[in-house]
Amino acid sequence: MVVDRYGRPVTGLRITVTHKCNYKCFYCHMEGEGEGGEELTADDIARLVKVSKRLGISKVKLTGGEPLLRRDIVDIVKAISDVGVADLAMTTNGSLLKGCVAELVKAGLRRVNVSLPSLKKGVFEKITGVDMLDDVVEGLLKAKDFDLRPIKLNTVLLRGLNDGEVWSLMDFAGKHDFILQLIELEPLGGTNELYNKYHVSLDVIENWLERRAFKIEERRDLHKRRQYDLGYVKVELVKAVNNPEFCMHCTRLRVTADGKLKPCLMRNDNLVDVLSALRRGADGELSQLFIEAIKAREPYFKGVCGAERAKIC
Ligand code: 5AD
Ligand code: SF4
Repeated sequence: MVVDRYGRPVTGLRITVTHKCNYKCFYCHMEGEGEGGEELTADDIARLVKVSKRLGISKVKLTGGEPLLRRDIVDIVKAISDVGVADLAMTTNGSLLKGCVAELVKAGLRRVNVSLPSLKKGVFEKITGVDMLDDVVEGLLKAKDFDLRPIKLNTVLLRGLNDGEVWSLMDFAGKHDFILQLIELEPLGGTNELYNKYHVSLDVIENWLERRAFKIEERRDLHKRRQYDLGYVKVELVKAVNNPEFCMHCTRLRVTADGKLKPCLMRNDNLVDVLSALRRGADGELSQLFIEAIKAREPYFKGVCGAERAKIC
């Protein structure tokens, strides 16, 4: 297992397979990436996974943009699955899931996280710019039929838009045996004005969950994230902003859509280009580049300094 300079084991690869998306979420952080160039091919991705697996990084999550917009997404999943990984998951907006979930499962996909910004059609459209709530719900139910477990719902809480829906989202998740992940808005993408307008702290919900949960589990592998079991539903909170604890338990390395290793979601000044090494074909060189990126890993929010750095001004 590889460990970075801060003692954090690196166990997961989060791969952006495309920047394209069929939604227009105004708050989208695009995984902290700029507009990229040429997209990695399924073969490129499989080679990166093969090299990272040798370093002990063997949990893979595919993300975007919207990964299901890649025409070769099934090939990508299959190529990674053939390498043999400990976990193979995808974060998707879910709108196209119903049409391809069977093929994805056959190719080796094991889990999905599906964004569900609202259960109200009008609010959903206000947030995403599209009228696709029914498609997402159908996709979720189909994923459940195919036993992609656990299925997680990702909801970024936005003041005045969906922050009154926490209880209906919990009911919906509980009814279908999904895990609800409530995500704090991060100051990336859009403007500071938008962040100030829509950011909601998750502290009140956290206090409520702490009092009501009959079991609280800490997810060591996932930023030490806590999972609150309310009996009828499990809820997780993603509080990344100004949270040194979250950064101290970060175990993932990112790959951008255009072939750069990205040590931190919040930074673009320490990317390591792997595209030319990929095309030259040398696994040893790729391995060195992974080590370089792991060496560059640094918690973004570190105590007081981190808090200072995170000020939105
Ligand atoms: N802050 C927090 N989460 C965000 N996501 C997209 N943009 C932001 C942001 N600015 C979420 C998506 C998806 C997950 C991968 O990240 O909604 O669920
Ligand atoms: Fe961004 Fe995801 Fe929304 Fe697409 S669905 S715009 S990738 S947050």
